[in-house]
Amino acid sequence: MQHKQLNRTIAIATGLLMCAVYVLYTFHACLLSGINRSLKQTATAATMATSAAVTVAAVSPAPLPHVRILGSIVRIVPLVDDGTTGPKLLSPGSLNSTTTTTDASPKYRFLRQQGLRPSRHLPDALIIGVKKSGTRALLEFVRLHPDVRAAGCEVHFFDRHYAKGLAWYRHHMPPTIEGQITMEKTPSYFITREAPRRVRHMNPATRLLVVVRDPVTRAISDYTQARSKKRDMKRFEELAFTNGSAGGAVDTSWGPVRIGVYAKYLERWLDHFPLSQLLFVSGERLIADPAAEIGRVQDFLGLKRVVNEKHFYFNSTKGFPCLLKSEERSSPHCLGKTKGRNHPHIDGAALDRLREFYRPFNQRFYHLTGINFGWP
Ligand code: A3P
Repeated sequence: MQHKQLNRTIAIATGLLMCAVYVLYTFHACLLSGINRSLKQTATAATMATSAAVTVAAVSPAPLPHVRILGSIVRIVPLVDDGTTGPKLLSPGSLNSTTTTTDASPKYRFLRQQGLRPSRHLPDALIIGVKKSGTRALLEFVRLHPDVRAAGCEVHFFDRHYAKGLAWYRHHMPPTIEGQITMEKTPSYFITREAPRRVRHMNPATRLLVVVRDPVTRAISDYTQARSKKRDMKRFEELAFTNGSAGGAVDTSWGPVRIGVYAKYLERWLDHFPLSQLLFVSGERLIADPAAEIGRVQDFLGLKRVVNEKHFYFNSTKGFPCLLKSEERSSPHCLGKTKGRNHPHIDGAALDRLREFYRPFNQRFYHLTGINFGWP
């Protein structure tokens, strides 16, 4: 009897341990991908150091790896490492300090001598939404610019992690040198009630980018994403209307429908920010003519127009513009498999009914932004 109870206790303990490991892994996926990115940057820095014939070997006894590249021994040092590899506790006084601890690596000293001292800053510009409108494409395209550095993952500070404080947020930003812009994108900020006030409190001069797309297509894209995670999901039409078909009322309590009422959310942002601090990017044009749309973004951010048509090519298999190269990959590549999914067929009557539903809200949105996006 006692033996049986012992076995049960061991089984429960093992189960709890596995859950804890899973939760830890999930929450740190962002951190892990950040580390991975840093490692890639480290390798890039090493290659640059070689091509510039900078001999950095044997300068410091730090336990950093030495590798042979093109016949030279090179000590790999991070180009923009601030000496930390994970979250660190910041003292209360460090919140307003714009610099972070620096290490003694020669590359760092070299940058400092040039007056270039990488440090982490709160974002100057945010992509606040809208989910499934092309927010990832916008971030990947704008960060091709050498003066833009962005957090790779969605940080969710202004919605989920606000209680952790600005020092926590700043620590999630990439190190930048003078003249570079820090960016972050979390699409759920657009619909988070408290986000406009919180962003304003961080910095009333924050520039805000909003990508929008026809709300009907956006709703279908949102649904397609949800269905990819939950195979037995009901049909779109059953979820979008209260009685399960286009004959009924549009169900505005369903997220994919509700988010498309852009005017309602924009009004909240306009209570805290002047229109001139927001840039509206057309999700449709971002696909049809990414260079033109990124041109507007660079102007808005006060950047030289460096990203242009030469950075893109149209991949006819994927049906989307893709990148010839990026900060992380020097070969042509498209956004991941989760971007540009095939949408399911939606009943024509349902599409018409949704279009009719959104029309007045779209008109209001055009009125507020001063832009006619031309959605049907
Ligand atoms: P679909 O996957 O439904 O086509 P977000 O990044 O905000 O989640 O938006 C995803 C949407 O970005 C995709 O929705 C796709 O239509 C759009 N998109 C815009 N430019 C893209 C590109 N170059 N590659 C892939 N998807 C792109």
